[in-house]
Amino acid sequence: MFESLKTQSLEEISRVTDTRALEDLRVKYLGKKGLVTAEMSKIATLLPEEKKAFGAQVNAVRDEVTKLLDDKKEQLEESEINARLETEKVDITLPARPQPEGKIHPIAKVMEEITAILSGLGFEFRDGPNIEDDYHNFTALNIPENHPARQMHDTFYLPSAPPSNLPPQAGGGFSSPLAGGIKGGLRVLRTHTSPVQIRAMENYIKDGAKPPFRIFSMGRTYRSDSDMTHTPMFHQVEALYIDRGVNFGHLKWAVNEFVTQFFGSEFEMQFRPSFFPFTEPSAEVDIRWGDRWLEIMGCGMVHENVLKNVGVNPEEYSGFAFGAGIERMAMLKYNIPDLRQFFESDLRWLQHYGF
Ligand code: PHE
Repeated sequence: MFESLKTQSLEEISRVTDTRALEDLRVKYLGKKGLVTAEMSKIATLLPEEKKAFGAQVNAVRDEVTKLLDDKKEQLEESEINARLETEKVDITLPARPQPEGKIHPIAKVMEEITAILSGLGFEFRDGPNIEDDYHNFTALNIPENHPARQMHDTFYLPSAPPSNLPPQAGGGFSSPLAGGIKGGLRVLRTHTSPVQIRAMENYIKDGAKPPFRIFSMGRTYRSDSDMTHTPMFHQVEALYIDRGVNFGHLKWAVNEFVTQFFGSEFEMQFRPSFFPFTEPSAEVDIRWGDRWLEIMGCGMVHENVLKNVGVNPEEYSGFAFGAGIERMAMLKYNIPDLRQFFESDLRWLQHYGF
């Protein structure tokens, strides 16, 4: 009895290769309208003496089919897991995929080096706004209105009414081009970092502090000038020391220390008399480059008018300042030939000259 049902189910179940098709077979044989279920429901229609034998037979078929389905299911599930483990296998011996590596821009690198040197010499970093007022950028630095020195700076002027939505400049880090504490009058993109000297000294005096003042400032500066050796935006660093009895010898020592720490001791250096409205006497510093002398910074003793402007008594105190172009320092130290490429964001250039 039920031989054909048994062989049919055995054959079909053994041929199945995935769990979903197997589930279809379970429904086909054991479901509500399944073939085995249909046989079982016949019991009710039989005579009492037939029921026992028929019932035993049909139960045996049901148990057999159930067991076939269960065994097959276990077998299929195992092979499906094995197949997944096989395809999803992670080969931990493979070398890592190459990741493109970022580099530190030479300007950022040089600014880090300078920060380390000047901090080591006891100078404290001071920030200031990139958008300056005419007073801090020029007047307080002893560059009066209509003075030809203003033209020398190729200044970028801005509309004089400050936009009302500018937040005050956030403290810390290097300057962002936002205005902060701007006096009335013309506004400019700062043409040098020297206005930060003025702001730092004004703040010291306002807080009732007295010299010694030892600060440095560093960041973006702007001049309307663009050629092989000039970009409209460039970077400067500047140090200022005010105390009793500061003289030109102290300035020379500090500049020498700064330059030798930055370039290494094999550099020859010379001081050449020069002029800046905010220092008197003033000098420019050259370092020897092959058979040439290259100018790397300006310096001098802070002009007494500058001290007066911030409320420091020039009878009691004196000081020095020196300022240098960061790009120039980076080009000389790391043999970078073209200034303009600093700001072209060429990744090949950065891969080559970055750190
Ligand atoms: N501020 C000058 C410039 O931009 C450099 C300088 C700084 C000179 C400090 C003397 C002292 O040219």
